[in-house]
Amino acid sequence: MKPNIFFNSNLDSPEEWRAALAMHFGDFKFSMAGDTENPENVDIALVWTIPDGGLERFINLRAILSLGAGVNQLDPTRLPAHVPLARLVDPSLTRTMVDYAKTAVYRYHRRFHEFERLSRHSEWKFIPPTLTRDTSVALLGLGELGREIAGALRHEGFKVLGWSRTPKQLNNIQTFTGRDGLASMVAESDIIINVLPLTDDTRHILRRELFSHCRRGACLINMGRGLHLVEADLLEAIDDRIIADATLDVGTVEPIPPAHPFWNHPHILVTPHVAGLSMPETASKAIAENIRKAMAGERLLHQVDLGRGY
Ligand SMILES: NC(=O)c1ccc[n+]([C@@H]2O[C@H](COP(=O)([O-])OP(=O)(O)OC[C@H]3O[C@@H](n4cnc5c(N)ncnc54)[C@H](OP(=O)(O)O)[C@@H]3O)[C@@H](O)[C@H]2O)c1
Repeated sequence: MKPNIFFNSNLDSPEEWRAALAMHFGDFKFSMAGDTENPENVDIALVWTIPDGGLERFINLRAILSLGAGVNQLDPTRLPAHVPLARLVDPSLTRTMVDYAKTAVYRYHRRFHEFERLSRHSEWKFIPPTLTRDTSVALLGLGELGREIAGALRHEGFKVLGWSRTPKQLNNIQTFTGRDGLASMVAESDIIINVLPLTDDTRHILRRELFSHCRRGACLINMGRGLHLVEADLLEAIDDRIIADATLDVGTVEPIPPAHPFWNHPHILVTPHVAGLSMPETASKAIAENIRKAMAGERLLHQVDLGRGY
């Protein structure tokens, strides 16, 4: 098998990906916009974003493989409808997302966010620690990432709750579905983590209406996408002390502009979209598996349902 791969990303290194794919295929073609000799021979589009010229010239394309866990960066109206699209599930990405979630949760659970504020004013104030079993953490999204995060937090002893589109049965995790279920879940949660995909149904899900159901003083961690959050509603919820504090890894606009009120806000920690990182060395295994499947005409792993949006 000699797959012919077209690569397009402004975030990922083509050299690293070429080297990583060489670990899986003895012989393969690898090109980028501008150096693809015979577009009709391209089998696989391995992309973060759609190139300026689109994908139409690859008339014999067998699969589009996203370099990200999400696919919202790919405009569905610019994708050839007959070509299957798969997203990336990579153990390194999952591991880094789990680590980020645990770090952000522990920062709230052990009150570091309050000690950070107090220490700026040289204030020595004893806030007694609590046990993890007394902190409840809710996850919006129980997919590849949400499930792993939920399991890891459960393992640490936290009370874990989770919300998904379809019902789930998970060990020692209380699960919810539907908008009523979401309202009930956040009403019981000290810390709320968003790890949903961005779709028409989930855009702006973190808004005033949801915050109105939250337990007073809840903390929010957004590891999904910036457009899940109505930023003005969060600022208002913090002013009203409904939401105590927020950790935001993603912004409506990235980078978040210098004059944005999130910067320097005493109750908001911004991280520059670093929660999860996929590494070609590990991710290439999953990509190679899907390339083999596409070449064999088989259904892809983690194939996206474009109607559903994820
Ligand atoms: N910040 C970062 O660095 C970073 C890195 C990687 C990924 N992400 C974000 O994480 C997201 C999730 O990734 P994943 O691999 O876990 O995705 P996934 O496996 O597709 O899981 C998505 C989860 O969201 C649920 N969901 C989707 N639409 C819903 C709706 N309308 N109502 C309720 N639940 C809904 C799904 O429910 P069902 O289980 O019922 O289908 C599923 O549990 C990505 O799309 C991306 O936005 C962020």
